[in-house]
Amino acid sequence: MGHEWTVHNPEGKRRVVVTKELPGPRWLDILVAADCAVEVCESPDVLSNDEIAEHIGDRCDGAIGQLTEDWNADLFAKLAAAGGTAYSNYAVGYNNVDVAGATAAGIPVGNTPGVLTETTAEMAVALTFAAGRRVVEADTFMRAGRFHGWLPTMYMGTRFYGATVGVIGCGRIGAAYGRMMVEGFKMNLVYYDLFRNEGLEQYISDYSDLLVAHGESPVTCRQLGSVEDVLREADIVSLHTVLDESTTHLINAERLALMKDDAVLINSSRGPVVDEVALIEHCRTHPDFRAGLDVVEDEPDMKPGLVDLDNIVVVPHIASATVWTRRGMATLAAANVAGILQGYPLWEDDDVLPLLSGDLPKATPSIVNAAELGLH
Ligand code: DGY
Repeated sequence: MGHEWTVHNPEGKRRVVVTKELPGPRWLDILVAADCAVEVCESPDVLSNDEIAEHIGDRCDGAIGQLTEDWNADLFAKLAAAGGTAYSNYAVGYNNVDVAGATAAGIPVGNTPGVLTETTAEMAVALTFAAGRRVVEADTFMRAGRFHGWLPTMYMGTRFYGATVGVIGCGRIGAAYGRMMVEGFKMNLVYYDLFRNEGLEQYISDYSDLLVAHGESPVTCRQLGSVEDVLREADIVSLHTVLDESTTHLINAERLALMKDDAVLINSSRGPVVDEVALIEHCRTHPDFRAGLDVVEDEPDMKPGLVDLDNIVVVPHIASATVWTRRGMATLAAANVAGILQGYPLWEDDDVLPLLSGDLPKATPSIVNAAELGLH
């Protein structure tokens, strides 16, 4: 209790609660233009549900919440009882949201797809190279003053050019990562997803034709029948699934054992997709295996032992952290709430960039339970 809250536009007729400060001016402009008084929690601490409920109080029209919070059915019931009709997560992922609970309370749930696709994929690429080429280990070595001269065998890592990259979960972000690896480093791509990504396959086939026309070797893109097939075949595996019951501990000890001894595993999806205890044990017993993690299982804590392993590179869930992207996410989250409060139609186009600049949006960017609530 006792966190500081800042109220913007206190005379606004609607009341919107925002549980963390958001970047950029546009998101606030959108809510103010929708006649909202906007109450922003200034504390970096994760708010408990009691704290959020207390702040929702007796009258609240909408809320923007964070992936660190547990937006469960009780919280949506509380929001609905306070007259609330709109919620947006400040994230594309919404495993922290009980969407069925929100739907039962009649509350649309927004998310922020489309602005973080490339940014998140870029971090997965950065982690791939940091882990595979041992950038962090070597940096630590330099800072410790231990470099006494070039040696033929110092910090040998993974050769990426022409390798096989595996993507598990080949939606927007997975496909963007796959394309970066294929286009940049002429890798062959294998992927596992419940759905075939025909657009990606066609793109890589066309790209391969271009390479061949320039006298280079072709590249391929193949959907494989199982996660196990990808793990066996790929030199690098990057995880881009949602987190739900079917993907919790998708990468466990048995599946790690299928991977090449010197493979690289990247996770920029959600921590619990990887059994972190199993990963730590695998990295201990397979010193040539490397992992790059944007997310950990018990965020913000790391499982015991992780910190001691040189063959794991870990960063604090920052894959979408560029100024442009985080401002874009704020714009979309605010437009989701403001759009619902003002009765704006849903934005039909996959391309959300037109909403990020120019006139304030007159559309609701992305509502995940739109169909259930009959919104269009
Ligand atoms: C998301 O949006 O789901 C990310 O994890 C944070 O950008």
